[in-house]
Amino acid sequence: MQATAEIAGRISTISVSSTMKVAADAEKLRREGADVVDFGAGEPDFPTPDNIKKAAIDALAANFTKYTNAGGTVELREAICERHRTDFGTNYNSSECMVTVGGKHAIFNLIQALVNPGDEVIIPVPYWVTYKDVVNYAGGVCIFVETDENTGFEVTAAMIERHLTPRTKLVIINSPSNPSGSVLSKEEFRAIYNLTSKRDIFLLTDECYCQFLYNDPPFSIASVPGSKETVVVAGSLSKTYSMTGWRIGFALAPTPIIGAMTKLQSHSTSNPTSIAQKAAVEAMRGPQDSVPVMLAEYRRRRDFVLERLRSISGVSIVTPKGAFYAYPNISVAFKSGRIKNSLEFANELLAQEKVAVVPGEAFGTTDHVRISYATSMTELARGLDRVHKFIDGLRA
Ligand SMILES: Cc1ncc(COP(=O)(O)O)c(C=O)c1O
Repeated sequence: MQATAEIAGRISTISVSSTMKVAADAEKLRREGADVVDFGAGEPDFPTPDNIKKAAIDALAANFTKYTNAGGTVELREAICERHRTDFGTNYNSSECMVTVGGKHAIFNLIQALVNPGDEVIIPVPYWVTYKDVVNYAGGVCIFVETDENTGFEVTAAMIERHLTPRTKLVIINSPSNPSGSVLSKEEFRAIYNLTSKRDIFLLTDECYCQFLYNDPPFSIASVPGSKETVVVAGSLSKTYSMTGWRIGFALAPTPIIGAMTKLQSHSTSNPTSIAQKAAVEAMRGPQDSVPVMLAEYRRRRDFVLERLRSISGVSIVTPKGAFYAYPNISVAFKSGRIKNSLEFANELLAQEKVAVVPGEAFGTTDHVRISYATSMTELARGLDRVHKFIDGLRA
């Protein structure tokens, strides 16, 4: 018997994460000795701040190396609620909070806990790649809301309203957005909340990049009075504190939903790593000064990337207002007919120029690629020179 025939049907509802695939392809070339410039990884290039690392070392020394509560220690859950309160003026308590193995796991748990087969989930395009697979895995139906590059890829309440049906269970908002860097205005976010709460539709706000905003102060829709009943927050320490490998995320939601998610987690991963949880307490309660330092550096890089991309004739790009991604429209490169979409663009760019970018197909558009500028200025300059050369070559 063929092993593939034995694989459960629900696995075929999900696909390999495109960002992971790009990372694997780039890594393979690198191992073969190629000089690869990697714009694929959505990962800060800064080290985790020393105070956070020290808290983990102290935890090890104190033998804090055993199981904790499946949903995370009370200490960390309280620290997360305190930080969210300080940053955004919310008022969650530890029974409305759980710690997860990264923000992705919070989203997975939330969607599995909320979405029944046939339930509709509204996802604005371009979207972070994981949402659609996790919804499909739950048997839900993704309802994609197209946004327009000419209006900064911003989704509006009116656009969402046109897609609501009696089966709509959940709306997912990611502001700042991965991949476009678009940021919802407070007013629009509130309008979306008003729309969903009136109809008892859940609003999942993915706050993974909430501290990395270039124009506005950080904002959480969960700070709107009364919003706790229908708003569910997915948070992550990965980007804010450059802790991607530590795998600590969290969810803030009504207690019954946290209970359902914790039950699921208790039968899958159990608790997130005990040592990482202690480090996370320090991240939440310790000095926050590394965050503005990273933000200032991302701003410098963003401005550089924008300038370089805009110097390539025919390439357009929306100015990212947050996160650390640029999402240029590279469809000018299709004119020669030698490549037809962003998937072919990304494959050829990697093969010919050894630059890794993520094709827009991963995020629901075909004319764009995602460039992560969470990498050094030297790498950005080297890689963007190659991108320029590649596009000019297609024009010749
Ligand atoms: C939009 C968005 N949400 C959530 C995550 C999850 O991050 P993590 O699982 O590392 O906390 C990511 C990571 O890239 C992301 O881009």
